[in-house]
Amino acid sequence: MKKKQVSFELSIYEDVGELSPEEQNLLNVAEQARNDAYAPYSNFQVGAAVLLDNGEIVIGNNQENSSYPSGLCAERVAIFQAGAKYPGVTIKSIAISAASKNYIVDQPAGPCGNCRQSIAEYEQKQKSPISLLLRGQTGPIYKCNSINDILPLAFSSSFLGDS
Ligand code: THU
Repeated sequence: MKKKQVSFELSIYEDVGELSPEEQNLLNVAEQARNDAYAPYSNFQVGAAVLLDNGEIVIGNNQENSSYPSGLCAERVAIFQAGAKYPGVTIKSIAISAASKNYIVDQPAGPCGNCRQSIAEYEQKQKSPISLLLRGQTGPIYKCNSINDILPLAFSSSFLGDS
C-alpha cells in the first residue's frame, strides 16, 4: 500500500490592494454582479466574473427558483454564458463574490461541487489552468491557481473512451 499526499497552493490576501489591477477589477465586477443576484429564497447572493483571453469579462449571478433545484449558481451562469458567447476563447480566471442578506459573510465561499465540475470541463477542454479569486463581503481574498487544485481526482471525458 502506498499513500500520497495531495496538496495545493492557496494564496491568501488580506487586502485587495495586494492584487494586480486586473484582479482587483475582476473582483469588483463580480461584486457588482452579486448585487443583481435573484436569491429570494436563500438570501445568499453570489456574483461571478469570468475573464477571457480576449480581454472580455462575462458575468453571472445566482438565479433561484420556487422549484429549488431548478435554480443555478452564479459560477455556472457565468461560465456557460462565456462558453455560449465566446466559444473557443480561452478562460483565464473567475472571480467569485458571496454575500448574505442575513449576516455578514466574512470569509470566501468556495464554489459548490457541481460548479467545480463545470469549470473543470473548460479547463480540460482548453488545456490551460483557470485561476480563481474568492471573497466574502469582508475578510481575506483566496486565490487558487487552477480549478483542478480544488477538485482532486476529477472526472473527465477521458474516462468515457471512444464514443
Ligand atoms: N450558490 C452559488 O451561486 N454558488 C455556489 O458555489 C454555492 C451556492 C448559490 C445557489 C443558491 O442560490 C444560493 O447560493 C444558496 O445555496
